[in-house]
Amino acid sequence: MTERRAVGVSRVLIEERVLQERIREIAAQLDRAYGDDVPLMVGVLTGAVAFMTDLMRAMTIPVHIDFMAVSSYGASTKSSGVVRILKDLNEEISGRRIIVVEDIVDSGLTLQYLLDVLGRRNPLDLRVVALLQKEKADAIPVQVDHVGFTIPDEFVVGYGLDYAGAYRNLPFVAILDPAAAGIG
Ligand code: PRP
Repeated sequence: MTERRAVGVSRVLIEERVLQERIREIAAQLDRAYGDDVPLMVGVLTGAVAFMTDLMRAMTIPVHIDFMAVSSYGASTKSSGVVRILKDLNEEISGRRIIVVEDIVDSGLTLQYLLDVLGRRNPLDLRVVALLQKEKADAIPVQVDHVGFTIPDEFVVGYGLDYAGAYRNLPFVAILDPAAAGIG
């Protein structure tokens, strides 16, 4: 792994070919689920961008897209589940079929908050697609309808996921090596 953008990565967890194959499977399931309806895909910025763009292009039914950005108030208060909306949707969602697209579900708090917020806007239905879900005993139970991959509780980067803003443009998911990344 000599690429400059991958310095600090200790090993590839999910390689590009495997990611893309799984994304095609999920896209086919979504195609079948919506039939003639046109769902609104809601990408959760910033991490979901890579997954969202590949997923929507692997689908063959027409979709609309929108984005939302949320931020927790910081690591120390993340467990409180307090999340702030940094950018809200441009679209009205009342009566519409919504697909929430997340890159990763970790504690589950961000997704739970989003589902509460979106649910109060009376969509026709809400489906959740997450590329990654961490295996975590203390995660809160939250609705996830499609999971790309269940992964161990490691610090992962790539394919949208960052460490301090870096690594999002890796085409694979990798485990961060804290020492090599300069944080160990
Ligand atoms: C990440 C990820 C999820 C959230 C999951 O976002 O994209 O939204 O954390 O964590 P949780 O299940 O513990 O709530 P992050 O806040 O890192 O922002 P980013 O997508 O802009 O990197």
